[in-house]
Amino acid sequence: MKYVIISNRLPVTVKRTDAGVTFTRSGGGLATGLDSLETDAPKHWIGWCGVQVDDPAERADIDRRLGAQLLHPVYLNEQQIADFYEGYSNSTIWPLCHYFYSNIVFDDAFRRAYWEVNELFANEAVKVVEPGDLVWVQDYQLMLLPGLIRERIPDVGIGYSHHIPFPSYELFRCLPERADILRGLLGADLVGFHTHDYMRHFISAVYRVLNLECRVDEVQLEDRISETEAFPMGINYDLYHNAITTPEVAAHADAMRGIAGDSKIILSVDRLDYSKGILTRLESYAAFLESHPEYHGKVTLIMVVVPSRDNVPMYRDLKTAIDNRIGALNGKYATIGWTPVHYFYRSFSFDELTAMYHLADVALVTPLRDGMNLVAKEYLAAKRDAPGVLILSEMAGAADELRQAIIVNPTNIKQIGDAIFSALTMPDAEKLAALRDMQSLLARRDVTAWAGEFMRELTKAKARNDELRRKVLGQSGIAEIRDRYRAARRRLLVFDYDGTLAPLVSDPAKASPTVDLLASLDRLAADPDNTVVISSGRDKRSIGDWFPNPAIRLSAEHGAFSGRTANGTAITVRWCGATTLWKLSRTSPTTRRDRTSKTNRPPWSGITGTSRTGWPNSASPSS
Ligand code: UDP
Ligand code: G6P
Repeated sequence: MKYVIISNRLPVTVKRTDAGVTFTRSGGGLATGLDSLETDAPKHWIGWCGVQVDDPAERADIDRRLGAQLLHPVYLNEQQIADFYEGYSNSTIWPLCHYFYSNIVFDDAFRRAYWEVNELFANEAVKVVEPGDLVWVQDYQLMLLPGLIRERIPDVGIGYSHHIPFPSYELFRCLPERADILRGLLGADLVGFHTHDYMRHFISAVYRVLNLECRVDEVQLEDRISETEAFPMGINYDLYHNAITTPEVAAHADAMRGIAGDSKIILSVDRLDYSKGILTRLESYAAFLESHPEYHGKVTLIMVVVPSRDNVPMYRDLKTAIDNRIGALNGKYATIGWTPVHYFYRSFSFDELTAMYHLADVALVTPLRDGMNLVAKEYLAAKRDAPGVLILSEMAGAADELRQAIIVNPTNIKQIGDAIFSALTMPDAEKLAALRDMQSLLARRDVTAWAGEFMRELTKAKARNDELRRKVLGQSGIAEIRDRYRAARRRLLVFDYDGTLAPLVSDPAKASPTVDLLASLDRLAADPDNTVVISSGRDKRSIGDWFPNPAIRLSAEHGAFSGRTANGTAITVRWCGATTLWKLSRTSPTTRRDRTSKTNRPPWSGITGTSRTGWPNSASPSS
């Protein structure tokens, strides 16, 4: 068995230089996080190599060199990069999931490229994945992939992690391809989100768009269950926590301290992205400077903006707007000895970045929407035991965990300005107490724990689905039932009704028994060695009307009513084997860990069908 991770990008970037093609570690939270996954099983990784390579000989060379590290590159041509990566992924899905409706581009060429590239990834997966493997697909660029792999290799465990927000149904429904996207995701045995809210939005979209039977944390499909769960992603805590103890990072920290002088340092680090709220952050800092002139010359905002997706027009425009706003702000407040904003439009090395984290008095993390935001977590870890304050947007997934941060509404300029003042004036003891609490949580829930937990749950979800598949009655099972029937002296035959004796239909009133069915049951009931019972959640009247034969015993309303027994006592019924998979699956004891979300279920919630318009739930007397 092996693990196969599939993400849009490989954890390396391939660059062509004068010296030939080179591989370097690529940035980004996802790559950083997954790189720390610890496992004994071989860990393969499939992903785009990040550069266009058309020459077959060059591709073969890259394949060989990356293959030696169990990395399997996918190659995209120029058009695919434009339409799949910059197009559907980052101009359609990204703004949709981050609630930027007016930024969404609906373009059929983008959609086609998304389908084409997901197929390309599936073809690469088929070369690497074998039955029994665990496949872990990452993020919004590959939402069709779980379904495509499932079609090609049914007997494989597939997990999917969504690293950005999943929007509410009201927004998600705007996507023309909403049903296909959801079906793609449901190819996974386990679908993970960073927060419970995203997970609820997903389930709600599946329920409303696909009309499938859903629970709080699972979707019932024809032959298996797709589970969904919140797995808040962690960071490599020790790496960040210990960074400042290395001479390299300490040297960077000293150099930066020299530049900042005695000023308090406020740090802002993001990829260039409109979802990060960079412009509003600058407005808030300006509002703070405006209302607190006593801090002029005593505070510096270090703003790191990492170039990203610069071929997407919205990103280019944002860059210009940021440049202008910082120019205006520095122009207004700067003095000969003081620059209010130190602006860097580039990425920093790990050593430089962690030195900044350690040094910063305040981290200002105010995205308008963010799936998680790892910068917030890395800052807290890197502070080690130096006092620091995190100002965090309530719209970042991280805010669900980091409750001791100063939580702000990212569009509330005054509130953020006030939060900066509070952070700068907070007593050290208070800062350290909050820091330690959050650090201890981050140390426990680090990226290794995150990946480990996901893989454990995926293993369980796959085992559960394997078991369900085994319970589908095949020819040998039918033969065995026939043999046992013939060999038995007396027989108790208990039949479920909807989905077993009658198909599930959208209008439950129309699921009346056929003439053939009644005749078969009458024949069985006529044998004095047989006791025939119909067990159903339906009300006693319709069941009684449909089966007037007094030799057929009835248990209606989920066992609350039972009639026509010989001695008048209730018949205890338990559905015990027929061709319908979904009933069996729901009466099996669950082996999964307890989930608080399940504790308040109504008594009838153990019975579900594959379609929510099919009975019993919608028309059950108890519901
Ligand atoms: N990062 C980096 N170099 C930089 C600035 C940031 O490698 O110069 C990393 C940072 O350490 C973090 C990631 O980029 O791990 C950003 O992740 P986050 O979840 O905050 O936002 P995303 O970019 O994924 O939306
Ligand atoms: C976010 C996404 C990742 C993506 C990263 C960098 O974290 O969730 O899937 O890899 O941003 O974006 P990029 O477009 O450079 O891959």
